[in-house]
Order: sequence, then C-alpha cells, then structure tokens
Amino acid sequence: MKNELLQDLLSQMSLEEKIGQLVQLPASFLSEGNLTGPALEMGLSRQDIRLAGSVLSVIGAEKICRIQKEYMENHPHHIPLLFMADIINGYRTVFPIPLAQGCSFDPGLAEKCAAIAAEEAAASGIHVTFSPMADLSRDPRWGRVMEGTGEDPCLNRRMAAALVRGYQGEESGPIGPGRLASCLKHFAGYGAPVAGRDYNTVELSPRTLREDYLPAYQGAVDAGCALVMTSFNTLDRIPSAANRWLLQDILRREMGFDGVIISDWAALHEMLAHGIASDHAEAALKAITAGVDIDMASPVYCRHLKELVEKGLVPVSLIDEAALRVLQLKNRLGLFENPFKDADTAAEKEKLLSPAHRAAARECAEKTFVLLKNEDALLPIHPDTSIACIGPYVDNRLLDGSWSFFADDQDTATLREALTQAGCRASFAPGCSLLDPGTPLIAFQKKVSPDTMDSEQALQEALALARRSEKVILALGEPRDFSGEAASRADLSLPDCQLDLLRQISAVNPQVIVLLFCGRPLDLRPVQKYAKAILLAWMPGTEGAHALADILTGRAAPSGRLAMSFPRGVGQVPVHYAHLNTGRPFHGDYRTERFFSKYLDIPNDPLYPFGFGLTYTRFAYSPVVLDRTEMKKDETLHASVTLTNTGTRAGTETVQLYIRDVSASVARPVRELKDFRKVTLNPGESREVTFAVSESQLRFYTLDMHFASEPGAFEIFIGSDSTAQNCASFRLTE
Ligand code: NOJ
Repeated sequence: MKNELLQDLLSQMSLEEKIGQLVQLPASFLSEGNLTGPALEMGLSRQDIRLAGSVLSVIGAEKICRIQKEYMENHPHHIPLLFMADIINGYRTVFPIPLAQGCSFDPGLAEKCAAIAAEEAAASGIHVTFSPMADLSRDPRWGRVMEGTGEDPCLNRRMAAALVRGYQGEESGPIGPGRLASCLKHFAGYGAPVAGRDYNTVELSPRTLREDYLPAYQGAVDAGCALVMTSFNTLDRIPSAANRWLLQDILRREMGFDGVIISDWAALHEMLAHGIASDHAEAALKAITAGVDIDMASPVYCRHLKELVEKGLVPVSLIDEAALRVLQLKNRLGLFENPFKDADTAAEKEKLLSPAHRAAARECAEKTFVLLKNEDALLPIHPDTSIACIGPYVDNRLLDGSWSFFADDQDTATLREALTQAGCRASFAPGCSLLDPGTPLIAFQKKVSPDTMDSEQALQEALALARRSEKVILALGEPRDFSGEAASRADLSLPDCQLDLLRQISAVNPQVIVLLFCGRPLDLRPVQKYAKAILLAWMPGTEGAHALADILTGRAAPSGRLAMSFPRGVGQVPVHYAHLNTGRPFHGDYRTERFFSKYLDIPNDPLYPFGFGLTYTRFAYSPVVLDRTEMKKDETLHASVTLTNTGTRAGTETVQLYIRDVSASVARPVRELKDFRKVTLNPGESREVTFAVSESQLRFYTLDMHFASEPGAFEIFIGSDSTAQNCASFRLTE
C-alpha cells in the first residue's frame, strides 16, 4: 500500500483506534477473544483488546489465521493484527545460543541460522521477532550474556547486522515471504548492569556508551532492522523508555533509525518502581514524549493516552506519528495485501525441523564449539578407543538454551544417542545423571545429589567404568535455565558434586575429556586442573549432540573462538581484553610486586582470553608485514602475514587483527579487534592473509567528542587470539 493511502487510513481512524495500534498484549491476555484474568486485573475492556494492534507469543498457523480473521472482522477499519514473538536461536529447529554463534566468528553462518529461524516462524504465522539482542556484555554474572554475541564491539556489530539480514533479507523495503521483521534490543546498555544483576542500574560514561555499546546497535540499524526495543535499565538514572535524549537524539537523529520503538515487557508500568512516575498517566506521558511507539504488556498507553490527549498534555500529532509508524511496519510486511502472510499449516509441516534445517543446525553447532585444552592430543578419539561416558549431560535433552520455548526437547538427540549412532566404542555409566541439569538451584548447589544412596552407588559404577576404559568423556555443566533472563549468578563455578566427580574420575583415569554445557563463561580453574581436554559445547541446540559426536570422533575439527573472556574467578569480573592500560599497567608476578593495577591473590588476565580456541592442528604465523609505515588519511594500508598449517590435519584458523592507538587525546584500549578472517588449510599448506586498514577504522570519540582519527603512532597485532604479540607499527599522518 502506498504511504499516501496509509495517511488516508490514519485520518479516518478514531483516537481510540490510533492508540490501539500502540498497545501490545501478551497471549495470556487473550483466550480466543475472551478476557482472561490478567487483562481484567489491568482494567482492560473487550474494546481495548479488540483495538490492540499487536500481540506477543501467539504461535501456530492455524491459530493465528483464526485470530487474525476474527480480529479484522471486528476491527472498525479491518486493520490486521501484528504477531510478535521471541525467536532467538531458532524456532522448532534450534541453533546454538547466540553467544555460541558469536564464537563461530562467522557472520554468514549466523545469517543463515536467522534465515532458517525466520522461515520456520513465518510459516507458523509470526511476523516479528524480538531479536537480535545486540547488548555488549563483559560480565558473565549476567545470565543474558547467552543471548548476545559477546564482549567485542566489532564482532557484535557484524553479528547484529548479519542476524537482521538473516531475518529480514537484504532488501531495505518490503519484508518478503519467509522473512520476519527484526526487533533490535535492548536499547541501550542493558548488558552492563551494575554487579551483573539483571535489570539493575547501568552506569556508563557517554564516551564508553558510544565507543563500546552503540556500535552493535548501529550495525543492526544499518542493516535495516524494523523495530527497536528499549531496555529495562536506567542510563544516567533515566529508564530507557523515558529517555528522550537516548531515543530521539541518539537513536533517531544520530543513528538514523526510522522504524518502530517498542518498550520491553511492562517497562512503562515499571517507571513507578523506578520512582520517575507517580502513576500510570505520568508514565504514559513520559514514554510517549520520549518516543516509545508501542507499550508492551502494560495498561499504561491503553488506559491513559486518550485522557492525556484530551487534556492537551499530549499533542495528537505524537499519537499520529507513532500509529503511522506501526501501520508502516504492517505495510512493510505486506499485511494489508495478505494479513496471513506466510502462515500455512502445510508449510509448517514441511519446513519445521526439515532435514535441511537440521543439517544447518548441525553445521552451525560444529562451528561454535571451542576447544580450550587438548593435552596429549586426547582429541579426536580413535574409533577403536574405549570411552566411558559419564555425567549429567550424557542423557540430557535440554540443550536448547533458555529462549527456545517453541521447540520440543524430544526433537533433540542426547549425547548417548549421538555417540552410539556415530559408532563410538562408548559405554555409559548407569544412573549417570548424578545431578540432573534440570534440577532446581538449591539442589545444584548441594554438595551431593539429592538422593545420596543412588548417587553413591552410581558413583562407584562410574568409577569402575572409568577404570576399565581408555578415555573418559565427562559431560558437565550448568542447567539450561541458569542463563537467560533473570538468571544472574554471583558464583561462576560448577557445583561441588560435579567437581568432586571430576576429581574422583581423574584419579582413576587421568585421560579425561570434559564437555562443558553452559550459557556463560564459568570459572574453570578446577576443570583445567583435572581435565586433560576441555571442549566447550555451550547450549548447542537440536543437533548439538550429533555435532559434538562429529568433533569428538574427528569427522570435523573444532574451529570456535571465545567471543567472551573466561575469568579466573568472579572477583576479576568484568575482565575483557580491550581494557585501558591505566597509569600502572602490570605484567609481572602478582605475588611479589605492589603499587600496580593488580590483585594480591590472582593474576589480571583471564583464564582463557577473547579470541582463543584450539583445533586439531597447529598454525604458525610469519611476522606482520606492512606495505607502508606511514599512512595518510585517504590512504589504505595493507597488513599481511603468512599462515602455515604446521600440523598433520586440515584445520581452520581465525586470523585476528587488532589495533592499538598508542597516544591520543583520551586514553585508548590496549588493543581493539578491527577485522578477522577464517582460513582453512591442509597440513603443510601456507597462505598469505592480507587485511586492508583504512583511516575510518582508527576513529574514536576524541576529547571534544568528535568521531575522528588523530595522527600519530599505531600498532597492529595479527594472531590467533587477543593476546597475540605479532606486531608492526605505523604512523597516521594528516
Ligand atoms: C522481556 C525481555 O527482556 C525481552 O528480551 C523479550 O523480548 C520480552 N520480554 C518479550 O518476551
């Protein structure tokens, strides 16, 4: 529909109808057209529900078509309803969690996963996904790190853009067949809650906000995301949904976003708890003037916008603009022509969990695993080797991550099934769920599993099995719901009972391979001590177990790299590679020196740094060669290395380029990732890898807050992780 026709439609709508477009109701409020308890409690009327412009978490082609038909018949202007949902790392076919996808360092792969998720969800009638979450985070206490792609602005920016392209397609205009509109979230700074506690206050300087946190959001905006969700947190003591500067000056004017802004769940109501509104009417006034178009899951807009307009406190033009944006979104999705879009029960049957989608999930999972340790080349496992498989994740199907509520756990293979199918000589400890990862927190923290009798017997049998096997696979980890929303932890270790199991098993058979299932970086010091090999599986999704079998048996080689540093202990958090140097940087022995920026009891560096990951071969780097040592602002510098596979197997290396601005008008990070490339080489093969560096990559927020580069000295590091020492220097001149 042409924009003039939308304007026309808007001009015919009553104020109530326009406000209806700004109201989003959760599925639980609707019960096939009847009012449910929560809706009544919020004081909503049948009329409010009839006019609400969007709903969230209703799924299924048949159901959505039925609701849409009935809704449109009853709507005064027959405007279609928008269906939104959290399609995060897949719909029915589940891919690895976003943090794991970040570890692929492969935006093309993330794009492919998002495209499949969109295709499946669209067939089930959904129009909008609340993804990507582009919140940079450096604090693994925060459970939502599993939903982002890690700690780095450059990687996050590319990943966020790729995910938007995957959901929406390349085109900036219509969101076509098999695509979803993408809602970027949570704007802004949600990944930096004080002390890692979800929903907590955020304290970021304007410079750090712009330098580190905005780039990933900008990536999604540049890729054309159709919506942006505000964050729950305060920034500079202002909740985002009431922050006019953030939504208007930064998001709309500076970043160029012209789509729909939606609040997070009940965030307008939460303004009362934040203490910035004394009632819902005041909350409505603050949100609409700040620029929130849609109120998600609260009665605030529905019950108060009309009276605010009538009292002259809110100009009707503000309502018109917001309602028009929602109509434009519906139009971009083609809903005025076809309100059912892709909803189709036959397509649902054909597409959901199709063999091609499962194959893509397997490929993706395989590329997200990070090999953290592999002493004595314990991995891969030879087919003749006898393996004992022990631990709570051997028989577990809960491998999808905490946002996969539209998937069915029964579709996910267990490790036992996958290893058996792969023809491994594996034996499984009976009762090996010594601690069921579905267990509640309280039991998780207990020293022994709830049923001591059973676990004692199971332990003895597991030890006997470990003794008579050549190698042991110990599948450990956090339960699925220990990461995700409202899942902050103050302790980043595995529970005592799992660590006890590891110690006892390694005492009878030191050939221990730990497979680690989790949604956040953990404190792995004890695991590193007792396990000879550690393979980080994250929450790998529907095909995760089969992908693990591929890696364990050597049919594929690990290639994932950490998108987030693994701390030595929670006391270091937040620990990340792109920190400032301080006036007293420290590189010596932490136990002997003093008066530096350091701890008395722990080194400064993380246990495993950003960018780190091993594979089944080794790579050697030549020194960095630059084609010039002076670069004018309009010139391009080329930095090259020759990479050689010096091992005996083919493998994929992620070559990473970091830059340090040695001296500038403000302190700059010790290094920043600027580019990366994945290179696959056969044994003995060499390849030259060249990166082009331009002036735009050297820009930052200068003393007077201009985004610009400054002439002077720079260092370039090229290597296999963020600690690479392979370095060359150049000068930027005017
Ligand atoms: C709250 C979460 O913060 C947000 O990420 C999610 O999209 C909404 N709930 C809707 O489920």
